[in-house]
Amino acid sequence: MAAHPTLPSPVSTSLLLLLLLLLSCCSELCAAATVSYDHRAVVIDGKRRVLISGSIHYPRSTPEMWPDLIQKSKDGGLDVIETYVFWNLHEPVQGQYDFGGRKDLVTFIKTVAAAGLYVHLRIGPYVCAEWNYGGFPVWLHFIPHIKFRIDNDPFKTEMQKFTTKIVDMMKKEMLFASQGGPIILSQIENEYGNVEKYYGPTAKSYIDWAASMATSLNVSVPWVMCQQDNAPDPIINTCNGFYCDNFKPNSDKKPKMWTENWSGWFLSFGGGVPYRPVEDLAFAVARFFQRGGTFQNYYMYHGGTNFGRTSGGPFIATSYDYDAPIDEYGLLRQPKWGHLRDLHKVIKQCEDALVATDPTYTSLGKNLEAHVYKTASGRCAAFLANIDDHSDATVTFNGKPYHLPAWSVSILPDCQNVAFNTAKINSQTTVLEMKYTKTYDQAADESTDSSEISESEWKFFTEPIGSINTTFTNVGLLEQINTTADSSDYLWYSISIDVKGNEPFLFNGTQTTLHVDSLGHVLHVFVNGKLSASTQGSNADASFKLENVITLASGQNRIDLLSATVGLKNYGQFFDLVGAGITGVILKNHNATRDLSSSQWTYQIGLKGENLALHDNTQNSTWMTLPSLPKNQPLIWYMTYFDAPMHDDPVAIDFTGMGKGEAWVNGHSIGRYWPTYTAPPSGCVKSCDYRGQFSGSKCVKNCGQPSQSVYHVPRSLIQQGERNRLVLFEEVGGDPTRVSFALRMAGSLCAHVSQSHPPPVDAVNTAQRKDAELHLECPHSDHVISSVKFASFGTPHGTCGSYSHGNCSSTTALAILQKACIGVRSCDVKVSTEVFGDPCRDVVKSLAVEASCS
Ligand code: GAL
Repeated sequence: MAAHPTLPSPVSTSLLLLLLLLLSCCSELCAAATVSYDHRAVVIDGKRRVLISGSIHYPRSTPEMWPDLIQKSKDGGLDVIETYVFWNLHEPVQGQYDFGGRKDLVTFIKTVAAAGLYVHLRIGPYVCAEWNYGGFPVWLHFIPHIKFRIDNDPFKTEMQKFTTKIVDMMKKEMLFASQGGPIILSQIENEYGNVEKYYGPTAKSYIDWAASMATSLNVSVPWVMCQQDNAPDPIINTCNGFYCDNFKPNSDKKPKMWTENWSGWFLSFGGGVPYRPVEDLAFAVARFFQRGGTFQNYYMYHGGTNFGRTSGGPFIATSYDYDAPIDEYGLLRQPKWGHLRDLHKVIKQCEDALVATDPTYTSLGKNLEAHVYKTASGRCAAFLANIDDHSDATVTFNGKPYHLPAWSVSILPDCQNVAFNTAKINSQTTVLEMKYTKTYDQAADESTDSSEISESEWKFFTEPIGSINTTFTNVGLLEQINTTADSSDYLWYSISIDVKGNEPFLFNGTQTTLHVDSLGHVLHVFVNGKLSASTQGSNADASFKLENVITLASGQNRIDLLSATVGLKNYGQFFDLVGAGITGVILKNHNATRDLSSSQWTYQIGLKGENLALHDNTQNSTWMTLPSLPKNQPLIWYMTYFDAPMHDDPVAIDFTGMGKGEAWVNGHSIGRYWPTYTAPPSGCVKSCDYRGQFSGSKCVKNCGQPSQSVYHVPRSLIQQGERNRLVLFEEVGGDPTRVSFALRMAGSLCAHVSQSHPPPVDAVNTAQRKDAELHLECPHSDHVISSVKFASFGTPHGTCGSYSHGNCSSTTALAILQKACIGVRSCDVKVSTEVFGDPCRDVVKSLAVEASCS
């Protein structure tokens, strides 16, 4: 028989490609490098470096997303990817480790290396990070005599064991810079300085121990401690915050480093959606480099998703988008990404001058500052800042006038020409939209509105009410986390009360008030098998009191209280000891009071459906079908199948119509959903003024709307062209037929560039290109600009989607833009009277354009 040549399968071809990529990674990085530091900067192979870094947490995306996210980070001008290491992911059971799938730290680091970037590995192992229990495994809490984050032997033993485990793993894989790997920095602990004063006399000895434990691991790269003023040498203390230009390390021998520049803020269920204008973010970065900083990290550069039950809390939402330069779905958030990329390029143009010396400061007036970096060899870079939060100014610097908008920094890489101003955005805006879609590929059906799944395609399972499964009893009310060890969000507290017909206070027909005190987070009250009330705490205060008027019948009455956690606390002193669950239950009517708190209660940890692993259970005998699907009823599990959504855009599920619960796609939890928890009606701003100090509550949108109604389903969880299983557990009641699918897509492209803007950053110093330029580019490489909906050169106003012509406008703008842009993926147009003619002399004009791609 003739031998058949073996053709590589598509899978082995792509593995081969990855391998080649990993092998070819190394022109710069695979050579062993020494990393040290001095007063000015991190020093790599003897060279001081300006380093731009961004946080991407590997478990908040999928391995399939990593290469693209990292490439987009590199294209955005990052040198370093910063990630925490998530202890509770890797050691879910004491001594049992897991580094598979989204937890594959080594592959993540190798992917960063393959892109030619460095890594800052923040081992923690306490990480905060809006992550369940701050990253600590809950089993840690049950070790006898343990006390977290102080000089306590049981704690230190486990912390050292895990830190060593990670370091050894990195060494074995040759991932430290000295071994030719990408890791140039490592972090121990996290922001302990913020809470240290609460931890008493052994706090400082704990920090000293952590420092020497870390250094004893001989990683051969510098260690940092963030927000730790008293970090002992040689550990570098670094800054976290919205601004860090004021920060000074605790020794002249250490560089000024910023480990967390918050690019936005996190979302909580029940909160509005925070965002941070890029003008302010760029201002903060520029001010940091202006005042001597040389390492800066965006927290987050890609925030991603809190899959499963990983979100911290309480009440941290499933989306961890963070308003980061790359959005939750992996798409560029524009103009944020582009404006920062321009900033990074200009900072890099200043690198030689920046690392050579400390800056020289000159006041240019009130709230007006110049900082100049000048080298012996004549290199010069200057930063001019106007830190006033409302007045623009014109300053004189080296004899020349410079206009500085309020709250902005101009960067002059040659001390003469402005290459960048933080408030002048050349980058395009890309409108990102959710496009509701059918889930299958049948073009013929495109006209039908079938982004939803019809009733007959759903199966269900009814979760029993109350403690009836594997139960136990206890006299008195138990604290929830100590009871469940966080093996489930849910704990049932059940009791039966006998109401005698002649009892003066609890008799048939009398209205009785049930009072429940809870440490949080969520409570559903069932009286005689019916949902009677639900309530919850909030991110700011998880605890609550509930008063529920109920009617008891004579004879036996059942009260079943379902208490649920929504992510364990991750921040603050002694956060590990903050409990959850019910602390008091009292029945009252006008005659009498009966305190049930010390009665005998029956408990059930978790749900029957969890026990049956319904998220991954397809047995027909388990799932029911009925001609009419139960809807808007509490405690129902639902299952259906859907076909892969069309195209290759990122996928989201819209849970509008559902109450609260958790969702799984092909057995993978995509997180908790809770579209009924809405943001407060007030606290939002119509348009956020970037000028002035930013805070997490300054710029918030979505007031009165669900905090999160759409949820990311990474493409890699969906099998192409096959039946995909969706399982939901609904606590309160919802209508699963309203669940719909959407694709995350780029809509319009807009740009608004003034003649007063600097020319494109790449063009600086090329004498022939002095004009500002407007650049448009379709995000998708196989799309072209298909229409120009609006173009105006003159004094146009408005924002993307609602531009209008001003008093002055050239008549040729639209035709010029159409000619330059339609049919191509990207176009550049000079913002100049040479191109458009001059519709109004002596007025600074701008060009505003809105276009679309297909
Ligand atoms: C910091 C912390 C981070 C993260 C951030 C807020 O205090 O170090 O882990 O929690 O706050 O997003």
